[in-house]
Amino acid sequence: MSVNAADGAALEVRSSQANGADTRFVAPAVSAPRASPGSFRLARLLSTDVLASFPEAAYEQDSLTQDLFGKKRILLAKPSVIRHVMLDNYTNYTRPPASQRTLRPLLGDGVLISEGESWRHQRRTLAPLFAPRVIPMLGEMVLASALAWVGELEKRAGQSLDMLHEVGQLALEIAGRTMFSIDTGEDGRILRGQLERFTFGLAQPRTLDFLLPLWLPSPYDIARKRFHTNMTRVVARIMDRRLAQPAGSHARDLMELMAAARDPETGAGFSRAQLLDEVTTMLVGGHETTAHGLFWTLYLLASAPREQERVAAEAGAVELAPGTVEQALKDLVFTRAVASESLRLYPPGAVINRWALNDDCADGIDIPRGALVVVSPWLVHHHKRYWNQPYTFDPSRFLPDAAAPERFTYIPFGAGPRGCMGGGLAMAELVLVTAALLRRFRVELNDRHEPKPISVIVTRPDRPIQFRLNPR
Ligand code: HEM
Repeated sequence: MSVNAADGAALEVRSSQANGADTRFVAPAVSAPRASPGSFRLARLLSTDVLASFPEAAYEQDSLTQDLFGKKRILLAKPSVIRHVMLDNYTNYTRPPASQRTLRPLLGDGVLISEGESWRHQRRTLAPLFAPRVIPMLGEMVLASALAWVGELEKRAGQSLDMLHEVGQLALEIAGRTMFSIDTGEDGRILRGQLERFTFGLAQPRTLDFLLPLWLPSPYDIARKRFHTNMTRVVARIMDRRLAQPAGSHARDLMELMAAARDPETGAGFSRAQLLDEVTTMLVGGHETTAHGLFWTLYLLASAPREQERVAAEAGAVELAPGTVEQALKDLVFTRAVASESLRLYPPGAVINRWALNDDCADGIDIPRGALVVVSPWLVHHHKRYWNQPYTFDPSRFLPDAAAPERFTYIPFGAGPRGCMGGGLAMAELVLVTAALLRRFRVELNDRHEPKPISVIVTRPDRPIQFRLNPR
């Protein structure tokens, strides 16, 4: 199917392949403002719900420019321009000061927040840990956690469950296990509480964060520094407990791989302080995103019984036991398509923010120095020009025989040299947990409220949503 783009060019839109379009689940659309919000309202939305800052027109245009206290905020949706910013000229774009203020207390100088040579060294050193051949090894730990979780849930079958809370605990348990292969115990729970409080407090950028230069700390920055000291103390306790374990007494885990990792160019490893920042980065970067990916996948399946039954049938025919992960990941084809479609409809990282270091021009779009450049997986994944029926839940878009999405129109894990390092692990987790749960339970919503997606750090429901699990 083709539609006319705003510039008159005919663009190919991939049509969804499922039959019986009327019966497919359509995710509720978020209400987009007609006009761009003014600076103060925009600054407030960036703190409380970034999705509400995208005007209707942004879902149809190549780009849309907003004003944020005299600075340009440019929303990009054109694949060639996204490619330019994320890949071809990526060194011209750093994380904006407001993101650095809010993320550094969480991630220290880890790979996600650092820049330049320091980032290159970290990225080179860490890359082999997430290579495709490592995923089955980590996947075994994911599956062990998932099976234990499903076993626990059997005791609560038929009861009302706050599903985000349940998958949040599981995702932290998985992040802890793949990292340390030991029970993070009480410290794991303390860490989760700290992260939750930070997310709904100091992590939200305030107006001052946009106005002050980076070298001038705001009162929030002082509180953020205190948070960093407290959180790092907890992570260090877990890390030290793990490093004190005699060699050979534990499974191979990310901690072991990270401690032994060397930069392939310089041969340098990580200092203890650096190791601590990388461990924290992986725990924080990996657990909230995956928890919300799981939540939305289960929400979609609870809303789409036909697709749910297909996943259950596929999962029931696959062996899910220790030593089977590599094969299971190959066989769970439809479940993987469901996870991919869930990441399209509800990308946990809804916005990727960049800051232009120098004037630039990308495929006809001028990007002045100091502009805030937004590449939003949410926006691109719901863009009318690139997706047919963008809000329809249609996993067949991602089945192996479907046409691949146009490059840079499907970017749940970002793109280019700064793309997600844990994407392979995250996909394995979504697929294995969904399969382990669905083959034992029928998943139902037990809530009259339709979850409204909002983006505060990650794409989350606006309030807790109750589910019920019924044994199959
Ligand atoms: C569904 C789950 C996940 C989603 C949707 C996700 C999404 C993303 C996105 C969009 C970026 C790019 C950010 C940017 O360019 O500014 C990113 C970066 C990153 N992610 Fe993930 N992520 C997920 C899971 C994980 C996991 C499990 C890990 C590690 C265990 C991880 C580690 C990282 C790291 C280290 C980076 C920074 C890479 C760099 O700056 O060089 N992520 N992720």
